[in-house]
Amino acid sequence: MKYVISSTYDEMSIEAAKYVADAIKAKPDIVLGLPTGGTPVGMYKELVRLHKEEGLDFSKVRTFNLDEYLGLDSDHPQSYRYFMETNLFSHVNIKKENIHFLSGIAEDPNEECLRYEKAIADVGGIDLMILGIGTNGHIGFNEPANCLQANSHLVALAQSTIEANARFFEKKEDVPTRAVTMGVGSILRSKEIILLASGKSKQDAIYGTTNGVVTLDLPASLLQLHRDVTLFLDEEAAAKIKK
Ligand code: PGA
Repeated sequence: MKYVISSTYDEMSIEAAKYVADAIKAKPDIVLGLPTGGTPVGMYKELVRLHKEEGLDFSKVRTFNLDEYLGLDSDHPQSYRYFMETNLFSHVNIKKENIHFLSGIAEDPNEECLRYEKAIADVGGIDLMILGIGTNGHIGFNEPANCLQANSHLVALAQSTIEANARFFEKKEDVPTRAVTMGVGSILRSKEIILLASGKSKQDAIYGTTNGVVTLDLPASLLQLHRDVTLFLDEEAAAKIKK
């Protein structure tokens, strides 16, 4: 595992964006796996700046988002599709047909998950997977559990995730309780993975991602089984691993 530790959230975001931009320049038709949440907002902002001011070209880039809430249509302001439109897609020259998402309103979510896995396989897999991490160590919506699903699947959100995400909704009751998400296998099959984490609340999860123990109690610890993972952290998130 490699580490890029920055003193602030803003610096971390710029470092991560630079890394992604370099990957796009090296392979203009790169297949990216993309996260949502509070953490990647700064990275997306910098990628938009790099597009507008330095001509970073998204015209051939292909993307697969990690997850989506079940029951939210793509134009629902709290859907992850909407998040991606407002934070990245509508500001850069990415082609609509190159954007891929698990639908939150598919009639048959299990069929939808099979379709998604096939779509990923059809483009030759994900080149660069970008992840955030939950305070409970989830990646995508792969929550701590006795067993984890390898492929994309329907999932019930952990109570701690519902509580953490309530800040984006008017009230906690509005947070969907289920989602569709890539599985840990979908993530680990990516050629390269980067993970972003910022702030004290992520210290324990980052420690568990790096301490040499692989456990389903902390799904991100499985990243230790992958040969090309880089963590982009700020000082607070990195505090326990630096000791
Ligand atoms: P956050 O969420 O970036 O909003 O902290 C990360 C996650 O839950 O994966």
